[in-house]
Amino acid sequence: MKSKVNIKSHPLHPILIPFPIAFFTGTLLFHLIGWLMDNPDFLKTAYYLNIAGILFALLAAVPGFMDFLYTVPPKSSGKKRAAKHGITNVIMLVCFIIAFFYRRDETPNHFLLALLEIVGVSLMVVAGWMGGTLVYRNQIGVDIRYANAGKWKEENFTNDSGEIQVATADELKVNSMKLLHVKDKRIVVARTEDRFVAFEDRCTHKGGSLAGGSTICNMVQCPWHGSQFDVITGAVKAGPAKEAIKIYQVREDGGKIILTL
Ligand code: FES
Repeated sequence: MKSKVNIKSHPLHPILIPFPIAFFTGTLLFHLIGWLMDNPDFLKTAYYLNIAGILFALLAAVPGFMDFLYTVPPKSSGKKRAAKHGITNVIMLVCFIIAFFYRRDETPNHFLLALLEIVGVSLMVVAGWMGGTLVYRNQIGVDIRYANAGKWKEENFTNDSGEIQVATADELKVNSMKLLHVKDKRIVVARTEDRFVAFEDRCTHKGGSLAGGSTICNMVQCPWHGSQFDVITGAVKAGPAKEAIKIYQVREDGGKIILTL
């Protein structure tokens, strides 16, 4: 799913996270060398790297939190993973904030300080592992493009009852989709070879976003584990999902695509 916080489709969170990773790892390395070689210049460098790491971690957290709120599909296994990723990073940051204040002491206990930094860097590795899974497996921040059918399409609507015009007929090419946020509902409107269809943007297996998948031959395939659903009836065509997806009424009227809620 395309990130809500992006620069020309490039998600901002992955652009920023190499900075705290480099600064916090540098903090640990410069501290260890400065401590073991009794070199005050290295210790001073560790101090400034610690400050830079905290500032850039806070900066990277902003788009990360926005992605957690608005990009990761709700009620999904990815949402739980993203929550764990965020909590692990917060604990990691707390370690380095404590380390920052502790190293301002005239005679800090270097063993304790190093221990804090090692715990922080270890947590950062675990959080990074989960972040990698969110991107490479859950495709959070991935901008889907439909072959010959245009870019990712998404729109918000405030009215969640009655009939709503959600697209124009020429906006959607065959086998392309558009994600609709209708208040707290996420609905996909798609064009098949012979009609328009609409269905809930939630795979019944583990909550993957179907808008991030692909449609062909009146079927949509979930991008997470490959479940396939009939977009006309909602029935499961291939597992691991076992339950059908919810289908909505949609029709074309004079070039307008009308969704009925
Ligand atoms: S979430 Fe597993 S197949 Fe969709």
